[in-house]
Amino acid sequence: MINKKPWAGRFKKGTHKVAEKFSASIDFDKRLYREDIEGSIAHAGMMAENGIIPKNEAEKIIKGLRQIEKEIESGKFPFREEYEDIHLNIEKRLIEKIGEVGGKIHTGRSRNDQIALDMRLYLRREISEIIELLGQTSERIIDLAEKNFGTVLPLYTHMQRGQPVLLSHQLLALYEMLRRDRERYIDCLGRVNVMPLGAGAGAGTTFPIDRQHTASLLGFPKVTRNSIDTVSDRDFIIEFISVSANLMMHLSRISEELVLWSTKEFGFVDLGDEFTTGSSIMPQKRNPDMAELIRGKTGRVYGDLMAILTIMKGLPFSYNRDMQEDKEPMFDAADTVKSCLAVFHEMLHTIEFKKDNMAKALAEGFITATDIADYLTRTGMPFRQAHEVTGKIVGYAEEKGRELINLHITEYRMFSKTFDEDLFDYITLEGSVGNRKSYGGTAGENVERMISEARQEIEEWKEWGQGSQPPGK
Ligand code: ARG
Repeated sequence: MINKKPWAGRFKKGTHKVAEKFSASIDFDKRLYREDIEGSIAHAGMMAENGIIPKNEAEKIIKGLRQIEKEIESGKFPFREEYEDIHLNIEKRLIEKIGEVGGKIHTGRSRNDQIALDMRLYLRREISEIIELLGQTSERIIDLAEKNFGTVLPLYTHMQRGQPVLLSHQLLALYEMLRRDRERYIDCLGRVNVMPLGAGAGAGTTFPIDRQHTASLLGFPKVTRNSIDTVSDRDFIIEFISVSANLMMHLSRISEELVLWSTKEFGFVDLGDEFTTGSSIMPQKRNPDMAELIRGKTGRVYGDLMAILTIMKGLPFSYNRDMQEDKEPMFDAADTVKSCLAVFHEMLHTIEFKKDNMAKALAEGFITATDIADYLTRTGMPFRQAHEVTGKIVGYAEEKGRELINLHITEYRMFSKTFDEDLFDYITLEGSVGNRKSYGGTAGENVERMISEARQEIEEWKEWGQGSQPPGK
């Protein structure tokens, strides 16, 4: 019977149609066909090398697998729900094509270690792509920081105007977030990049397989160490989604800032027609939908993380069918992160900063009050007292409807005799920004140095990206 299930030896009755539909994963795990075939080819090669199957049979198997890959790619492959998943679909097709010898591919292997391999191969690729996208986006941010060097805007805390900072400094803050995300992905990749095949169903195998050989054929620097853990472990997926959730949280916050900044109320950025949309009723509208969607899609990835954590929570060792539910969150997280990064990166190309509005926002709100307190503190007054005195000055200016820079020195002296004409060097925007020279602060010289450090890091990332892999962990 051609469509008999490969495991049906001991069964008297076939699977109920409802159960078959319910348990089939082929609809979504067919995405792993490349990895499945790549893994099988390495497994066949390793078996031939170690005399487990004859060389000519391995060649037949490998040839058949390559044909199957082409069939899938050209859309001609007959995917069948009754064969459950990608592994059995390919194995069945292999036997159809090259005869019973095709059944030898599953020697010394189980779907339990096979699926672990497929997902590790898949994630390895995805993570490398994400790291590359992160690199491009980071580079774009540094370009913007360089291009807009010198522009000052208010730094908000509690959404209230706080202190003047360089726009480039704020952009570098985004860079720092993405840099940490990149590090997390690389760290995670180290644990993804470990070869699981050979664990069999969970106890290992009686065949003289050479796991190191399979690993080197597939470019894995290491093999997993415990067969039970190997088929039980989905930490590498949890980690991937968790790192992705963190990145999405960052993209969401940046998007939120862009949404705010593009309002009439702020008016700090223009997002470009290509990345905004109109309203079907209000003709004047220009909505920041892409930024909003990135913010919204963050929720999906958090959901993916909750899903996988919950799936794994109560599972006894080792493989349980629940684990089939790991794939959709994994795919969804990877797809979402990649699409968000791609849109975000392109959107950054169209962004325009509205410097006039930034300047307007700086002109009101006593933005350099901290610099007055710092001034007094430098004359020997305890900071707490200086804060109090400055508070009174702000109150006075507010009452008079004037800004700090417009008060006369005699007015300042009403509050403290220590004020001198040089006060005005400190409370201009340039003075305020330029004096924040502490390491990591917003002074121009710091920011310039950080831009060039970031550039150098990005160049190193590019070199790293060229096919290099972190060591397996
Ligand atoms: N489709 C299965 C999964 O994704 C592959 C492993 C199944 N193993 C098993 N013994 N049913 O988890």
